[in-house]
Amino acid sequence: MDAMDIVGGRRLEGRVRASGAKNAALPIMATSILAEGPIRLKNVPDLADIRTMSRLLAVLGVKVEREPGGDLVLNCTSTRKNEAPYRIMKTMRAGICVLGPLVARRTKVKVSLPGGCAIGDRPVDLHLKGLRALGANLDIRHGYIVGPGKRLRGAEMYLGGPFGSTVTGTANILMAAVVAKGVTVIDCAACEPEVQDLCRALVKMGAQIQGIGSPRLVVEGVERLTGCEHTVIPDRIEAGTLLLAGAATGGDVTVEGARWNDLFALVHTLREAGAEVEHFDDTIRVRARRRLKSVDVTTLPFPGFPTDLQAQMMATLTSADGISVITEKIFPDRFMHVAELGRMGARIRKEGNAAVVHGARHLSGAPVMASDLRASAALVIAGLVADGKTTVSRIYHLDRGYEKIEQKLGRLGAKIRRYRES
Ligand code: EPZ
Repeated sequence: MDAMDIVGGRRLEGRVRASGAKNAALPIMATSILAEGPIRLKNVPDLADIRTMSRLLAVLGVKVEREPGGDLVLNCTSTRKNEAPYRIMKTMRAGICVLGPLVARRTKVKVSLPGGCAIGDRPVDLHLKGLRALGANLDIRHGYIVGPGKRLRGAEMYLGGPFGSTVTGTANILMAAVVAKGVTVIDCAACEPEVQDLCRALVKMGAQIQGIGSPRLVVEGVERLTGCEHTVIPDRIEAGTLLLAGAATGGDVTVEGARWNDLFALVHTLREAGAEVEHFDDTIRVRARRRLKSVDVTTLPFPGFPTDLQAQMMATLTSADGISVITEKIFPDRFMHVAELGRMGARIRKEGNAAVVHGARHLSGAPVMASDLRASAALVIAGLVADGKTTVSRIYHLDRGYEKIEQKLGRLGAKIRRYRES
């Protein structure tokens, strides 16, 4: 298992590029089950989750190839394979994105429920509600979602749940609705940029979708979808993490592939905290010339502040002046990083779905353990700020979502080293 040593206290400075968005690429890869022809994807990051999805699709009859130039080419060569096994699904929740395409294209489906998750409850009831509304008579048996597929009919549905809409649920239902007979109306659809990117890829394949980016998607089913070529959007969460690392270290960091329209909640929050943030085309520059001030943050579905940046924001605020309250409204238990930040000297009190961060703390390097992807990124930011050496172990979590992060941070001046733990 790899670990990472970070010697903190260095100001980050320079220019860096965010990779393609993992959470956009994963559902778009699953569209290969629907397409009659190859899907060529550009800007797909080379990450553990992408490789896991490739393995899952291979089991489902899709040939997946990474070309020397970096393009990912997916071609469905068998329409008989219909089982997404637990051994793969337990390692990555996003595997659930094959459910919609399988329901649309196979006469029978058997998809394992995904494994447990460190960030809290991750039900799939809304996925099932939407697919059932389209006529798929799905059931849960022995840990698998099973039932007949095909012969779907358009329907009207409402996808709001106790914590807003569902990102991968919207993706699943969209991927089934685009080839269902008739019109589907999805109300309270997720508006996240990753869902918008999926819509754009589906439209290139011949799908008819209106309302892209809004909470009402209207889909007119078509009989067949062709292959397509698509460039995946840049990763707003990786870009946001790099901007926060810049701000936390009092640095001056420019991130290319940081789209203002995808990141304005973070940008406004950083400005409120006293950082200077400018944007040009697809580039955002952050400068923190003074110590940051406290700021209250509430995570919300897009365009609100993303839950996937909550942990990194918290790490940044541990050294800001004043008391910040961070409220988590998407995954109320997503606070695994609080205890580990505490090991580095942060003073954070958890109260239900909120965390009260007493700022102006002087963090000191410590051995810490990554528990999930974004919590790991928070520990890296804390390590960059802290005095002395921080060792982050179990960084395979980080590898699920950040491509070459140590190289990118190293280019900005961080002293960071990856090595194999004995
Ligand atoms: C996606 O997960 C992302 N994953 C997550 O990123 C992200 O944190 C999350 O959206 C929220 O933005 C991918 O895109 C692969 P949801 P998803 O369904 O789709 C509740 C990362 O770090 N809910 O939008 O699984 C759910 O419990 C990952 O990259 C139901 O109640 O999340 C949560 O409270 C982690 N019923 C809320 O909705 C359902 O059927 C939002 O979850 C589905 C979800």
